[in-house]
Amino acid sequence: MRKRFDFLVVGSGLAGLTYALKVSNYGSVGIISKTKLEESNTLYAQGGIAAVTNEHDTYQKHIEDTLIAGDGLCDEKVVKMVVAEAPERIKELIAWGANFDKKKDGNYDLAREGGHSEKRILHHKDNTGQEIQRALIQQIKQNNKIEILDHHFAIDLITQHHLGLHVIRYQTDIDCYGIYALNIRNQSVNTILAKTVFLATGGIGNIYHTTTNPVIASGDGIAMVYRAKGMIENMEFVQFHPTSLYNQGERPSFLITEAIRGFGAKLITKEGKEFMHKYDKRESLAPRDIVARAIDNEMKLSGDDFVYLDCTHLDEKELKSHFPNIYSKCKSVGIDITKNYIPVVPAAHYVCGGVKVNADGQSSINNLYAAGEVTSTGLHGANRLASNSLLEAVVYSHRAAINSISKIGNIEFNENVPDWNDEGTSHNEEMILITQGFKELQQIMTNYVGIVRSNLRLKRAIDRLEIIYNETEKLFEQSTVSLKLCELRNAINVSYIIIKMAKNRRESRGLHFTIDYPEKYKLID
Ligand code: FAD
Ligand code: SIN
Repeated sequence: MRKRFDFLVVGSGLAGLTYALKVSNYGSVGIISKTKLEESNTLYAQGGIAAVTNEHDTYQKHIEDTLIAGDGLCDEKVVKMVVAEAPERIKELIAWGANFDKKKDGNYDLAREGGHSEKRILHHKDNTGQEIQRALIQQIKQNNKIEILDHHFAIDLITQHHLGLHVIRYQTDIDCYGIYALNIRNQSVNTILAKTVFLATGGIGNIYHTTTNPVIASGDGIAMVYRAKGMIENMEFVQFHPTSLYNQGERPSFLITEAIRGFGAKLITKEGKEFMHKYDKRESLAPRDIVARAIDNEMKLSGDDFVYLDCTHLDEKELKSHFPNIYSKCKSVGIDITKNYIPVVPAAHYVCGGVKVNADGQSSINNLYAAGEVTSTGLHGANRLASNSLLEAVVYSHRAAINSISKIGNIEFNENVPDWNDEGTSHNEEMILITQGFKELQQIMTNYVGIVRSNLRLKRAIDRLEIIYNETEKLFEQSTVSLKLCELRNAINVSYIIIKMAKNRRESRGLHFTIDYPEKYKLID
């Protein structure tokens, strides 16, 4: 089947949904999403969205906090722009129906998270993402100009390559004509032509064994751009959230929001001793890279599988009312957070790098825009400040919408695009080969490309990855295309890029810490 859209949106998290709403008055819009519309990293966001919304705070402070967290690699112009545009984008979310908690005096109940010098996080209880998704999906479903293609999986971007034309890596004249998408319900591959494609496919958490990300996060968008020879950067900066619930066998790991530390919870060892003062004077509210490394170090020193988060000294009523989901989730596994310590471990959470885009969300591939976690905009540098990613998604979706609307009148569909070629393939793949491939990949990335790295570990990782890469590519060539096989292939591509970029960075910086260059990180005497 062939379809045509002026604006084709791939992904239905915050970035994809807000872009679709904004362009819907200017042409036909299709949203494809690989499972149900709601499922996304956005849905699980707890802490909230950072923005300067009251007179105690200033843009300058938000800018400085972002730059400090980014450890010298943020693009200052981008940081200033995102911080300044934040309040307008928040107003839009509210106008679309998203609710953020307020205090009795009518002002927003702002929370504080690691690396923030002020309380500036707007939130809805401890399920902000769910509230935002609810409001946006309601808007999308009421909008008859937007066609929803859920349970459709984007396999590859269509470029000159598919027309038999030769393109050179990183050349700037690569054009995007649409995507090939697998309809999961009937297993057919559709050719979806588009004047512009907007990539909003989110993150990569599932290349690691322990992650807060749902299974959809297999780096598909980044892998597609990599195969299409588009520019990707900063992939070595993978953020591990310091505190996911230690509950063996549960995948994804349940997040214990940083906002609970902003509320007064303390990290302690199994022996009940505080330890963060040894690592940073901001203690439990230091930026995430520092806290995650500190926990990792404490676990290595003690041999324990987790550390604890202590909330027992906090006001019981307030704790339950601010964090109702955490309270009930922990209760369901036998932990009463008002009385018991919460066992926590770091978990892969967010990728700071991705598809390189300019200030208008344009990638290096013509007519391909991107926003959200799939991108590298320059906002996060070497480490993302908490609650800056929902913000980045809305700011860049807005900018990409304005730019693509201004260009759409001058772009034609490319009718020469051939349909998907599955010659020589058959239904011969065994599921065990794919599930085992994923497990091996997650072991490699967790053991060798985690919070602490070394040249030797990275070399081991690349050597072992090569084996599963070759096996999986062969399987892909021989097999009828399937969701799980495509995800594995993408996850392997993305892991390869992370390892390559990590090997090239010959220093410890932000989220990339290697024992071969340890000088920046000393314990406080
Ligand atoms: P997502 O919301 O991940 O959406 C990606 C979409 O793309 C999904 O619909 C998916 O199905 C679709 N997709 C992917 N691949 C394909 C494909 N091949 N074909 C078709 N569709 C595809 N950030 C904050 O700022 N504040 C927070 O409080 C916060 N809390 C978080 C808590 C958790 C547990 C997690 C996991 C993340 C949190 N983050 C938070 C990060 C933030 O949620 C994400 O970075 C952000 O939501 C990403 O939005 P997105 O639109 O780019 O991608
Ligand atoms: C959290 O609530 O701790 C997650 C916030 C984020 O990832 O920005």
